[in-house]
Amino acid sequence: NLQLDYANIGGIAYDKEGQPYPETTQALAKQADAILLGAVGGPQYDKLDRPLRPERGLLAIRSDLGLFANLRPAILYEELASASTLKPDVVAGLDIMIVRELTGGIYFGQPRGIRVLDNGERQGYNPAVYSESEIERIARVGFETAMKRNKRLCSVDKANVLEVSELWREIVEKVGKDFPEVELSHMYVDNAAMQLVRAPKQFDVIVTSNMFGDILSDEASMITGSIGMLSSASLGKTKLGLYEPSHGSAPDIAGKNIANPIATILSAAMMLRYSLDLDKEADAIEAAVAQVLKENYRTVDIMSEGMTQCTT
Ligand code: IPM
Ligand code: MG
Repeated sequence: NLQLDYANIGGIAYDKEGQPYPETTQALAKQADAILLGAVGGPQYDKLDRPLRPERGLLAIRSDLGLFANLRPAILYEELASASTLKPDVVAGLDIMIVRELTGGIYFGQPRGIRVLDNGERQGYNPAVYSESEIERIARVGFETAMKRNKRLCSVDKANVLEVSELWREIVEKVGKDFPEVELSHMYVDNAAMQLVRAPKQFDVIVTSNMFGDILSDEASMITGSIGMLSSASLGKTKLGLYEPSHGSAPDIAGKNIANPIATILSAAMMLRYSLDLDKEADAIEAAVAQVLKENYRTVDIMSEGMTQCTT
């Protein structure tokens, strides 16, 4: 019974409508119950003015719809333990949820730009800013997510250097008082990057800022074998959510019919679960993905000996 509408975003939107996030798309997105989004970006757009680039369309739709919480699960399927670059015993059973703040921080800080200094030299600048309310609402999502899982939350920051992180830590602590059952820890982002490859299973839920989450979620996904496996959900105050694979558009393999579709398929499962309350259907999709892996079908990014290589 799903009613599907289609709209352009990113490069195709620029090509067809002159803008990466056209008004037609905006209007459709706002009246939808949920949005399934394909990855954006491509080298042919890198020379465009910044506001016209595909990435801007993505940032605009996230911000426009108030989708401040990005949930990125990194789960290792048993069958893929050998696809990970880490030793199987380090990753077996891995199940991490990264809660990434998505509409603030250095991605959106103003003023931003490239200016000319008095001495004629150019200087680029992007302030990393977080207000208390922005930190509080993402911290809450972090704690609530932990409550539904193993009740361990690690907040990742750079409080030894950045004031914005100092405030982040203070507010996360404060929100934590409302969740006495959750075991809260803090970690500097450099250490977190290291711990993720050293002993990733120590993590249950990670809550972090926009850019740290961008970086750590790519790292976490690779531990599970391939970034082609990692789905994501972007949520706000209402049930409306945007669901997208965590990976980019992979222009290097465009048109070859070898892309791993699993991240997008699992994003659709998340969409059914979080925005449309179709849990049974979401379970069915996830079970189907597990079944395909169990039957040894692999796209090239997760291919290993003895498996059947298949196309997208
Ligand atoms: C992601 C992507 C985007 C981001 C890019 C394409 C703007 O890397 O969703 O992780 O940085 O948020
Ligand atoms: Mg990214």
